[in-house]
Amino acid sequence: EPPRPPPLKLEVKEEEVDDGKKRVTVFFGTQTGTAEGFAKSLAEEARSRYEKASFKVVDLDDFAADDEEYEEKLKKETLSLFFLATYGDGEPTDNAARFFKWFTEEKENNDLFKDLNFAVFGLGNKQYEHFNEVAKVVDRVLVERGAKRLVPVGLGDDDQCIEDDFTAWKELLWPELDQLLRDEDDTSGATTPYTAAIPEYRVVLIDPCETSSHLEKSWSLANGHSTIDLQHPVRANVAVRKELHAPASDRSCIHLEFDISGTGLSYETGDHVGVYSENSLENVEAAARLLGLSPDTLFSIHSDNDDGTPLKGGSSLAPPFPSPCTLRTALARYADLLNFPKKAALVALAAYASEPNEAERLTYLASPAGKDEYSQWVVASQRSLLEVMSEFPSAKPPLGVLFGAIAPRLQPRYYSISSSPRMAPTRIHVTCALVHGPTPTGRIHQGVCSTWMKNTLPLEYSEECSWAPIYVRQSNFKLPSDPSVPIIMIGPGTGLAPFRGFLQERLDLKLSGTELGTSILFFGCRNRKMDFIYEEELSNFVNEGALSELILAFSRDGPAKEYVQHKMADKASDIWSIISNGGYIYVCGDAKGMARDVHRELHKIVQEQGSLDSSKTESYVKSLQMDGRYLRDVW
Ligand code: 2AM
Repeated sequence: EPPRPPPLKLEVKEEEVDDGKKRVTVFFGTQTGTAEGFAKSLAEEARSRYEKASFKVVDLDDFAADDEEYEEKLKKETLSLFFLATYGDGEPTDNAARFFKWFTEEKENNDLFKDLNFAVFGLGNKQYEHFNEVAKVVDRVLVERGAKRLVPVGLGDDDQCIEDDFTAWKELLWPELDQLLRDEDDTSGATTPYTAAIPEYRVVLIDPCETSSHLEKSWSLANGHSTIDLQHPVRANVAVRKELHAPASDRSCIHLEFDISGTGLSYETGDHVGVYSENSLENVEAAARLLGLSPDTLFSIHSDNDDGTPLKGGSSLAPPFPSPCTLRTALARYADLLNFPKKAALVALAAYASEPNEAERLTYLASPAGKDEYSQWVVASQRSLLEVMSEFPSAKPPLGVLFGAIAPRLQPRYYSISSSPRMAPTRIHVTCALVHGPTPTGRIHQGVCSTWMKNTLPLEYSEECSWAPIYVRQSNFKLPSDPSVPIIMIGPGTGLAPFRGFLQERLDLKLSGTELGTSILFFGCRNRKMDFIYEEELSNFVNEGALSELILAFSRDGPAKEYVQHKMADKASDIWSIISNGGYIYVCGDAKGMARDVHRELHKIVQEQGSLDSSKTESYVKSLQMDGRYLRDVW
């Protein structure tokens, strides 16, 4: 295996001190890099609009080491822009979590931000209940603490076209910034339309005959950093891979075990694992063909000129991945080929289309006039970047443009860990449903990571086993610290994953003589015979007393659909008795359908069983959430 070093953290260059410029800080809370990308592109555009101002793009986590420093430094800000993503159950991103906690706590001084002008753009998804919660809260609290809001909070919706939301929000923002950042005598740029340069890396092709074996040094188990995180994952071998569905099932669900012995990685029951997987060889080869290059093309990639000076217009770009490497490696590990292309990607493709009609059509799709066409032909049709490129074959961008402007970085995929370190201290178990199905254009979409997992070669079959860079993301989805507290778990499909970990932990406690509280698990799947995953293990948990009651809902076995929430209704009084006696309730799985319906059912149970009116019911459930007794791990 060639080396697979960790992804690099993009370094943000700090502006130098007092040069008489007005200072603007652009903060971002990002999980997958979109918020960070927006923050950087806004700063880039603003720099060329306002020569008398300096713009600093800052990761919220890097901004301050502790609460005191947040207060100290934020107090001094006079103009700040915030790009804040919300994910999961209305939560801030990892890099904004510490800031958000501090920020939303009660403060003595309610005038903390009286000198601050600000604007917030949120990144969220309307399909989720807590749409853009983090951005909304930050926007509100800033005003409550004396800051002046320049424009209404931008509510970017990833379910539609978030780039358009961003553009619309920027159009509101510019006139406000004009007022604050332009000199009176400066009328020059006020109406000049701005066209962003296409970001591009410098690529040097390397003659394979001239290279030595330095490419082939292998990935060591230690990642060379003191921490293992998003930017510094660690290599883990695949020890075990098993199919969990019956052979006759038309779907697939994989049980995978990563061997973490010797990696320095540890985890707790309920945590998530982030997995950096690879595109399939088939897609890699298709991409190389579309670029007109051999997958064996060897190159290095740089964000500076060969004399070390920054590339024109590219001050914030760091090399996107370690090189030299082959095009095969770069496309497999670092390029997102299967998501639909952003408008900026179409603009870049247009610039390199040699057929004028292709260039014209691409430009139109990315233009305001082509908005509806873009939403339909690209977004709603789920046209992947590969698919779009194959429809515009004359567009053969150079590699520096491909990686700078067209193919975003392939992101890690997250899974709720389905084991407990008490049972499996050297293994991280993953329970992963294969993503596989037709899109509106008839393409069969194959999920990048689940397909990779399905095709892995585990250590149990070969020393030359598959492996991936991984890291552990902590969660607050945890068992009560007192094992005698009763719990209710609701997890249909792969929502079962963290509860398998919970039950392993409870079994271990039980075996070591601990007294356990009642536990009920609601599990649902389609058919008992096809997709009832971990059936034997679950009955073992019952037999051993780690699980008091297993309640099953089969949605396609009988004449009528049975879902977990129907079974909850049958058990309403037991559920109420557990909750009203201090018990915990956990939900894991699909956010848009199941978790929303279960949430409604829970309200119904609380209202009926507790004889509460609807507003008391609301606040009862809210307080369960606030107390951390109603926890959700949903996606
Ligand atoms: P279905 O696909 O037959 O509709 C795991 O995916 C199980 O969750 C399946 O049995 C699936 O049923 C079921 N499911 C689908 N939508 C649901 C919802 N809104 N609430 C609860 N369960 C749901």
